[in-house]
Amino acid sequence: MVFFRLSPVPGSGLVVLCLILGAISSYALELNLTNSKNATCLYAKWRMNFTIGYETTSKSNKTVTISDLGNATYNGSICGDDQNGPKIEVQFGSVFSWTVNFTKEKSTYLIESISFSYDTNDSTTFPDAKKKGIFTVHEPVAFRIPLNDIFRCNSMLTAEKKDVIQHYWDVHVQAFVQNGTVSTKEFLCDKDKTSTTVVPVTPTTLPSPTTTPAQKEKPEIGSYSVNNTNGTCLLATMGLQLNMTQDKVVTVINIKPNTTDFTGSCHSQTALLRLNGSNIKYLDFVFAVKNENRFYLKEVNVSMYLVNGSVFSIANNNLSYWDAPLGSSYMCNKEQTVSVSGAFQINTFYLRVQPFNVIEGKYSTAQDCSADEDNFLVPIAVGAALAGVLILVLLIYLIGLKHHHTGYEQF
Ligand SMILES: *[C@@H]1O[C@H](CO)[C@@H](O)[C@H](O)[C@H]1NC(C)=O
Ligand SMILES: *[C@@H]1O[C@H](CO)[C@@H](O)[C@H](O)[C@H]1NC(C)=O
Ligand SMILES: *[C@@H]1O[C@H](CO)[C@@H](O)[C@H](O)[C@H]1NC(C)=O
Ligand SMILES: *[C@@H]1O[C@H](CO)[C@@H](O)[C@H](O)[C@H]1NC(C)=O
Ligand SMILES: *[C@@H]1O[C@H](CO)[C@@H](O)[C@H](O)[C@H]1NC(C)=O
Ligand SMILES: *[C@@H]1O[C@H](CO)[C@@H](O)[C@H](O)[C@H]1NC(C)=O
Ligand SMILES: *[C@@H]1O[C@H](CO)[C@@H](O)[C@H](O)[C@H]1NC(C)=O
Ligand SMILES: *[C@@H]1O[C@H](CO)[C@@H](O)[C@H](O)[C@H]1NC(C)=O
Ligand SMILES: *[C@@H]1O[C@H](CO)[C@@H](O)[C@H](O)[C@H]1NC(C)=O
Ligand SMILES: *[C@@H]1O[C@H](CO)[C@@H](O)[C@H](O)[C@H]1NC(C)=O
Ligand SMILES: *[C@@H]1O[C@H](CO)[C@@H](O)[C@H](O)[C@H]1NC(C)=O
Ligand SMILES: *[C@@H]1O[C@H](CO)[C@@H](O)[C@H](O)[C@H]1NC(C)=O
Repeated sequence: MVFFRLSPVPGSGLVVLCLILGAISSYALELNLTNSKNATCLYAKWRMNFTIGYETTSKSNKTVTISDLGNATYNGSICGDDQNGPKIEVQFGSVFSWTVNFTKEKSTYLIESISFSYDTNDSTTFPDAKKKGIFTVHEPVAFRIPLNDIFRCNSMLTAEKKDVIQHYWDVHVQAFVQNGTVSTKEFLCDKDKTSTTVVPVTPTTLPSPTTTPAQKEKPEIGSYSVNNTNGTCLLATMGLQLNMTQDKVVTVINIKPNTTDFTGSCHSQTALLRLNGSNIKYLDFVFAVKNENRFYLKEVNVSMYLVNGSVFSIANNNLSYWDAPLGSSYMCNKEQTVSVSGAFQINTFYLRVQPFNVIEGKYSTAQDCSADEDNFLVPIAVGAALAGVLILVLLIYLIGLKHHHTGYEQF
């Protein structure tokens, strides 16, 4: 069980959400098909679930939902040859099967159609089904993708036909993989391009630098904490956006708090907050104490899974961010960037952290990053003070003059 505390404004009324992750997330399916030379010809990773409605012998309607696809097999999936195109076949149990086929065109390939079959003869899955037999729904898809691009759709795609509702999301698929190397060039579904909801992966993988895709989404704010035997010892509330550059390809990922786990540890001189999620093997924030009276972010150590299966890792233990006195918290509502390396940076939003001296699970007074900015106000303040002094001098002079004058009269 994992606890998340989410709050729209850092530090304000925390809502405690208790998520049993395993019960919510459905399984990602993954297939890496190789040809006779052991080179990848088709790669796919995706999530799906189904809802099937059927009529019972007592004339009522029932629905069956399938979302736990952990025990799927992929028998019948083929790379394709001159006669047949590539095909993914998935079986779950003996009751359900699912097929998608692909065809190649001149410079594109097509996700041609999807078929889904279910067997109502199985009385444990379909108790009292009135009509018994194998039913199949065909869904023409016709997604056209440039050859050598990987299709990606994190958004939800829904197909509803006859008695079956199909949901697909977090889809990554490439057929006709060239030279056995899965492409890093993503071809997005329209929904991902225009999506106003936060998607976990939003790459700016476009050849032309003039095309800036809609990806200014801010990340959701997550609340993270670490406990030791004395209770909560580290608190962090922040929206996190990761920006990595690899082979000149920039990938921006918003961390989704409710699908991200966190752990950590607290010591007297260092504290660690570690996040992990489906794309993130680990993302470590290491805090340290300096001069015995201040803390700061000293190290970030990250390891991420890329779409094509390889791992991206970077660490820097010579950072100096989020500096504040011990016994207080550090806060920064505006967007800030932690530059870990030339190839990896973290954009933070509505940040508040306290890695040491947390009392009763609550943040202590905050040192705000905008205090740094007050320095810009200094010249203005000095100017204003000077003007004040000038006016004062002038006043004294005038009063003095008047005094002098009256003095003369009295004389
Ligand atoms: C299918 O997945 C979607 C997205 O996670 C979810 O909203 C929906 O409730 C799921 N349906 C079933 C039947 O599990
Ligand atoms: C399907 O594949 C699994 C493992 O991949 C294998 O154990 C099983 O025998 C296969 N079934 C058929 C019908 O080929
Ligand atoms: C793909 O599947 C659909 C439906 O099962 C079928 O009609 C079509 O002929 C198949 N295409 C290829 C190239 O196998
Ligand atoms: C695949 O290899 C061939 C020959 O080595 C090369 O011409 C082609 O550009 C490569 N394709 C990709 C997508 O790397
Ligand atoms: C817990 O609190 C006690 C008393 O304040 C302190 O001596 C001890 O070191 C603390 N333990 C940890 C793990 O912080
Ligand atoms: C940490 O400790 C606090 C207070 O002792 C408790 O409310 C909270 O549930 C704990 N959090 C975790 C993640 O164990
Ligand atoms: C991501 O990093 C690249 C390279 O440092 C930079 O040009 C780009 O503006 C950054 N994007 C975001 C959203 O931070
Ligand atoms: C995560 O949060 C988003 C928005 O707050 C919500 O739409 C989504 O259903 C949540 N997902 C899970 C697995 O709770
Ligand atoms: C985070 O890592 C733990 C332990 O390695 C793992 O059990 C958990 O599933 C991971 N969480 C996510 C969201 O992937
Ligand atoms: C797919 O399998 C091939 C051969 O086993 C391997 O070289 C490749 O790295 C795998 N790719 C992915 C994305 O898992
Ligand atoms: C995956 O993509 C990265 C970044 O483009 C690249 O450096 C790496 O070699 C690729 N790995 C595989 C197995 O294709
Ligand atoms: C980063 O973390 C990994 C896993 O904990 C560890 O093996 C590695 O040494 C760390 N790297 C640095 C530079 O701290």
